Amino acid sequence: MDLQGKVAVITGASSGIGEATALMLAEAGVKVAIAARRAEKLEELKKKIEAKGGEALIVITDVTHKTAVEYLINHTKDTFGSVDILVNNAGIMPLSLMKNLKTDEWEKMVDVNIKGVLYAIGAVIPIMREQKSGHIVNISSVAGRKVLVGSAVYSATKFAVRALSEGLRMELSPNDGIKVTSIEPGAVETELTSTITDEEIMEGLKKMLDIETLKSEDIAEAILYVVKQADRVNVNEVMVMPTQQG
Ligand SMILES: NC(=O)c1ccc[n+]([C@@H]2O[C@H](COP(=O)([O-])OP(=O)(O)OC[C@H]3O[C@@H](n4cnc5c(N)ncnc54)[C@H](OP(=O)(O)O)[C@@H]3O)[C@@H](O)[C@H]2O)c1
Repeated sequence: MDLQGKVAVITGASSGIGEATALMLAEAGVKVAIAARRAEKLEELKKKIEAKGGEALIVITDVTHKTAVEYLINHTKDTFGSVDILVNNAGIMPLSLMKNLKTDEWEKMVDVNIKGVLYAIGAVIPIMREQKSGHIVNISSVAGRKVLVGSAVYSATKFAVRALSEGLRMELSPNDGIKVTSIEPGAVETELTSTITDEEIMEGLKKMLDIETLKSEDIAEAILYVVKQADRVNVNEVMVMPTQQG
C-alpha cells in the first residue's frame, strides 16, 4: 500500500523505537504526529523529519493523562484531516523483584503501558470507525509472551497489550475495516533500561544484554512492513528478536 499522505500518531516518539518509527514513516510520505513529554527531543526530531522533506506535528503528551491523549488524537485529526495509523509505543520498564515492593513503579507501569494505550485506543476508535479504515499498532514485547524473574509486572502489562490487541482485532477488523497489530520486540538498544532502580536485578540484566541487541530501526522496519500491507492483509503479530537472544 502507498503510504503517501497517510497520517500517523506515534506515542513515545522522543527516543528509541518511537523516534525511529516516526522518521521511517515520514520518509515513506506519512504525516506524523509525534508525542512524548520531552519537548526538546521532539523539536530535534521534527527538524530531522523536515530536513528530509517530511511533515511532523509536535504534541507534548503525557499518556497517563486521558484528556492529553484525547487532545493528541483529536488535534492530529483536526490538523491533518484523518488518523490512519496509531502506534501505541510509549512505555516504561522499571524491572524489579516483587519482594522489593516497588509498588509506585508497578503503578506507573500500569498507568503508562496499559492505561496510556487504552486512552489512545478509546480516542481513536470513533475516528477510525467513521473512516471505515485505520491501523492500530501496539508495541508489546517478548516479555508479553514469557515472564522472567524481575519482569512480573512489566510482563503483565505487555501480556495485557497483546490481549487487548487480539480482542480489538477480532471486534474491529471484520466490522469496521480497522487493522490491529501487536509488535513484540526482543532486546533493543534504547533508553528503556534507564528507569530500573532495583540493584538486585542489574547483574542478571547486564548478562542478558551482553549480546548484539537490535537497533530501533529494526523494529521501525517491522512496523513499516505491517502498515504497508494491502487492505485485505492484517498482520496480527510480529515478534522480532536479536539473533543472539535465547
Ligand atoms: N528496548 C527494548 O528492548 C524493548 C523490547 C520490547 C518492547 N519494548 C517497548 O518499546 C516501546 C518503546 O521503548 P524504547 O525501547 O524505544 O524505550 P525508550 O527509548 O525509553 O522510549 C520510551 C518512550 O516512551 C515515552 N514515555 C515514557 N513515559 C511516557 C509518558 N508518561 N507519556 C508519554 N510518553 C512517555 C518516552 O518519552 P518521554 O520520556 O519524552 O515522555 C520515550 O519516547 C515501549 O513500549 C517498550 O516497552 C522495548
